[in-house]
Amino acid sequence: MAGQGEHDLNCLTIEELENHAHGMMDKQTRDYYNEGSDSNSTLRENTTAYNKYRIRPRVLRDVSKVDSTMDVFGHKNNIPMGVAPTAMQALAHSDGELGTARACKKAKVAMGLSSFSTKTLEEVAEASGDNPHVLQLYLFEEREHSRKLIQRAKKAGFKAVFLTVDTPFLGRRNGEIRNQFKLPPHLKVGNFAEDQIPMPEGENRSSEAQGKSRPKLERKQSQAGYQDGDKRVLPQGPITFHTHAANPTLSWERDIEWLKQECLPEMEVWLKGIATAEDALLAVHHGVSGIVVSNHGGRQLNGALATIDALPEVVEAVQGKIPVHVDGGIRHGTDVFKALALGADFCWVGRPALWGLAYKGQAGVELMLKLLSDEFKLCMSLAGTVKVEDISKEYLVKMDNSGFVSRL
Ligand code: FNR
Ligand code: LAC
Repeated sequence: MAGQGEHDLNCLTIEELENHAHGMMDKQTRDYYNEGSDSNSTLRENTTAYNKYRIRPRVLRDVSKVDSTMDVFGHKNNIPMGVAPTAMQALAHSDGELGTARACKKAKVAMGLSSFSTKTLEEVAEASGDNPHVLQLYLFEEREHSRKLIQRAKKAGFKAVFLTVDTPFLGRRNGEIRNQFKLPPHLKVGNFAEDQIPMPEGENRSSEAQGKSRPKLERKQSQAGYQDGDKRVLPQGPITFHTHAANPTLSWERDIEWLKQECLPEMEVWLKGIATAEDALLAVHHGVSGIVVSNHGGRQLNGALATIDALPEVVEAVQGKIPVHVDGGIRHGTDVFKALALGADFCWVGRPALWGLAYKGQAGVELMLKLLSDEFKLCMSLAGTVKVEDISKEYLVKMDNSGFVSRL
């Protein structure tokens, strides 16, 4: 546990980190990172829903040696928590995803990389070294783009792809609309940067210059796909998240089998964005390696259940057949403890890493990970649990609005 001298006295909690970050980001970035969809009620509830659980601590258990580690993707993670994939991290700090990767490696926690990162997946893999890293995937309507990305990820040593399944359309984010969000010209979406280089007026690159298998790139405005009567018109132009990330055509039958064929055996296929027992059962049925209970940090369907409230039905349905991870609203080590007690195998945090980056680049992400890790270890000790496997629902009670407490 941290000694007195090891603290950043200006920043002792994730809440303080959020406040520091607030002042360091421009409005467009702050709104993009912090907001949810519509009224933000799911965004808020992701965090507040943790408050109704209280911990039942056990004592006299010799907690002088607490082991907070757990295996994930074949590696020992320092705590059962990693950094979730969030897009365009260089908006917060020039270190971007490389800062996050180096901080994760140092802290020995897994990292998820967004398809829409501002650094390339190869650069991030190199910065991660043997620390486990997974690639979040938006399966594009034009599969060829995704196939290429998958092949690159395999080559770069990613352990898994996390297919995001809660994004048939992008949720309505009013701040983003009002600010007319645009990636500043000095930043690029790293993995598709080649597609984003504006073509000089009147020039047509020959297919030779573009690489043998590459079709001629007609420089077009990016445009989302749409339905024209019975016909589906595919997204056009350079890949941007506003136009290409959402894919309303994704389906269990067609896409999951295809994805498994493309990824296995080198990379596992996970589904990120499962929120019901029914879909969890389908995920097991379709043979994916694991699921993440997620509502995209409250950025997709507003009014959806907080993830910690969706977790128990998913855990019950899955019955340990595949691992169940959870993200959304985790802001303290005790939240990680509560999620594990409710049956999650592992947690991911999104925005806290962005706030860390905004505060101090890589050092800020290191700080964020240290805060949560210290809090989690202290929580384990004070609750009387010496191994992660000890954490169970015996350690929680639920309190309803009137203050009535019930055992789980
Ligand atoms: C995200 N998230 C996300 N998810 C995904 O699958 N692909 C992506 O590119 C992104 N991008 C993204 C950007 C920003 C700014 C945020 C805040 C979130 C969702 C992310 O992986 C995770 O589900 C949530 O961030 C978890 O909630 P918390 O920890 O931010 O509350
Ligand atoms: C977002 C997309 C990129 O949530 O996933 O902004």
